[in-house]
Formats: sequence, C-alpha cells, structure tokens
Amino acid sequence: MSRRGFSLIGVTHFIVLIIAILSLPLDVSCQDEDGASSGDSTNPASLSLFVELIYNQMSNYTKIFEPEIKKNLGFCITNVDADWNRAFNFSDNLEFLTACMQKTNDFPQRLCTAAEVKFYFSNFYEQGRQKANYLKPNKNCNLTSFPNGCEPGWACSVGKNQKVDMKNSKDLPARTEDCRSCCEGFFCPKGITCMIPCPLGAYCPSAKLNSTTGTCDPYAYQIPPGKANHTCGGADIWADVTSGSDVFCSAGSYCPSTTQKLSCSHGHYCRMGSTSEERMFL
Ligand SMILES: *[C@@H]1O[C@H](CO)[C@@H](O)[C@H](O)[C@H]1NC(C)=O
Ligand SMILES: *[C@@H]1O[C@H](CO)[C@@H](O)[C@H](O)[C@H]1NC(C)=O
Ligand SMILES: *[C@@H]1O[C@H](CO)[C@@H](O)[C@H](O)[C@H]1NC(C)=O
Ligand SMILES: *[C@@H]1O[C@H](CO)[C@@H](O)[C@H](O)[C@H]1NC(C)=O
Ligand SMILES: *[C@@H]1O[C@H](CO)[C@@H](O)[C@H](O)[C@H]1NC(C)=O
Repeated sequence: MSRRGFSLIGVTHFIVLIIAILSLPLDVSCQDEDGASSGDSTNPASLSLFVELIYNQMSNYTKIFEPEIKKNLGFCITNVDADWNRAFNFSDNLEFLTACMQKTNDFPQRLCTAAEVKFYFSNFYEQGRQKANYLKPNKNCNLTSFPNGCEPGWACSVGKNQKVDMKNSKDLPARTEDCRSCCEGFFCPKGITCMIPCPLGAYCPSAKLNSTTGTCDPYAYQIPPGKANHTCGGADIWADVTSGSDVFCSAGSYCPSTTQKLSCSHGHYCRMGSTSEERMFL
C-alpha cells in the first residue's frame, strides 16, 4: 500500500476506532463497583474486560459511523473491515495501555471524547489536508487561558473521578486539571487537552529535549517560549504521512507496538510504518 494510502485509510479507521472506544462504558472497566479510583487499572481482569469490550463491539460501530465519516472527511473507503485490523488491533500488545493507566491514575479522564476527536480532525482537514499547525481557540485552550495541557505533547484531566460522556460529540468537556505529559503510545496535539491513541505502525515514545536544536526529539515541537519550567511531553501529532514522518516507525525498523522500535534483523526488510519484519526472498 502506498504511504499516502496508508495515511488516508489510517485516518478513517482511526476515527472509527476512537468512536468505538468512546462508545464503550469505560467506567465499567476502569472503576470498581465500590467507587475505587479508576487508577486501579493494575487489575488484569478490568484491563482484559476493557479490551474485550472493544473487540466485541468494534465491527458494529464501524457500520454505524461509516456514513458520517465518509460525509465529513470525503474519503473513499474501499474496505473498512480489512484495513481496520492492521492499523488498530492492539490486542497483541496492550502494554502501552497498561503503562498509561498506571502512570496517570485517571486514564479515562484524559482520553479524548468524541467531541474532541471531531474538533481535532475537522480542524486538521480544514487546512487542506496539511499538518494542523494550530487548532481554533476553544473552551480549554484560548487566548485568555492556555494551560500546559494545551501545549504539544501534554494533556489534562477533567478531574479525578469525574464522569466523562465519551460519546458526546457536540460539547467539549472542561479539561484543565492536573496537566501532564502525554502517555507513550498516545499523541496530544497542541490546542486540545486530551490524549488520542497512536495507530499501529506509529512510534510514539516520550520526547527528549535536544539541547542543540531545542526541539523535543523525535518530534518537531519545542518547549514553548516563556514557559521555562515546562518540559518535553509525548507525541504531539499523528503525522499525516504526506506532511511529515516523525511519528511513523522508520524504514529499517519495525514497531510491534506504538511504544517499541526494533531494528530489522539480517535477511529481513522493514518498510516505513511496519509492525513486523518481512523475510527477504533469496
Ligand atoms: C451487532 O449488531 C447486530 C445486528 O444489529 C446485533 O445482533 C449484535 O448483537 C450486535 N453485536 C454487538 C456486540 O453489539
Ligand atoms: C486482532 O488480532 C488478533 C491476533 O493478532 C486476532 O485474534 C483478533 O481476531 C483480531 N481482532 C479483530 C477485531 O480483528
Ligand atoms: C478560555 O479557557 C478557559 C479555561 O481554560 C475557560 O474557562 C474560558 O471559558 C475560555 N474562554 C472562551 C471564550 O472559550
Ligand atoms: C540533536 O539534533 C541534531 C539534529 O537533528 C542531531 O544531529 C543530534 O544528534 C541531536 N542530539 C541529540 C543529543 O540527540
Ligand atoms: C516549576 O515546576 C515545579 C514542579 O512542577 C513547581 O513546583 C514550581 O512551582 C514551578 N515553578 C514555576 C515558576 O512555575
């Protein structure tokens, strides 16, 4: 598949995935009946329940949202079901999700809702399919208030134990509490305060400040001027492959998950965006 093809199909299925995730009763899987913190995600049973819910319901949600996605994004979708699995089946490696749940303690309060995902992608595509350099001012990030979570690679919480209506696709939730770095395996664009999972084939580690260039490697963003106390966060963009390849697993490497990058071994080849290595025919 061409790079561009992967990218467009990726965006489409990515949105479908997000909507599928958002449509699930997250608080069931991440919160105990007795109201224990949603941070009790070390419990393997709740984690596998979360995953099971996703996979059981996913195919149905794709059908519900396919027309809307076609209308809004104007993509030509040839085969939703076939391409889906390749980009967004995380079932083989859920370590990134476990790690994020353990690190944040309030994972469901940091995950973008349908409204936020829509806001991001509609801005993204309004700009002529270019990389979104900025999003419109909104409830959480605007000219009068721009908390750290609005910066690239950062996100905030709606508040611990606050319920979020993940399915609400109209109103952005107020999300400006406890802003922190984006988890590995997720991306946090500038101008919104939530996290979106990276698709498979992407490599979304935490950024490290390159003191020579001043950028947060491997991404292109910098520590915002005037915020000396700020640090590099996680990924800030899921690179549209046409506008930059920061986030994709580079050629010569493969990324079995969005937080792992391994070198292609002898006798194998790895295209950009690979999740596994291919044996060469000799
Ligand atoms: C999917 O949709 C079909 C038909 O509408 C329904 O019978 C089935 O129970 C649904 N499955 C899930 C997991 O929601
Ligand atoms: C995801 O991949 C696993 C194995 O890699 C497979 O068993 C499972 O059916 C896939 N899930 C979906 C929804 O296709
Ligand atoms: C600007 O953001 C702050 C919080 O970050 C919010 O309280 C305020 O309502 C926003 N203003 C507008 C005009 O959206
Ligand atoms: C900083 O970036 C430059 C240019 O991309 C690169 O050559 C250099 O190795 C980077 N430094 C570190 C410490 O990664
Ligand atoms: C810088 O960050 C630290 C740790 O988050 C905080 O305690 C301190 O007050 C901050 N300083 C300023 C000037 O914002």
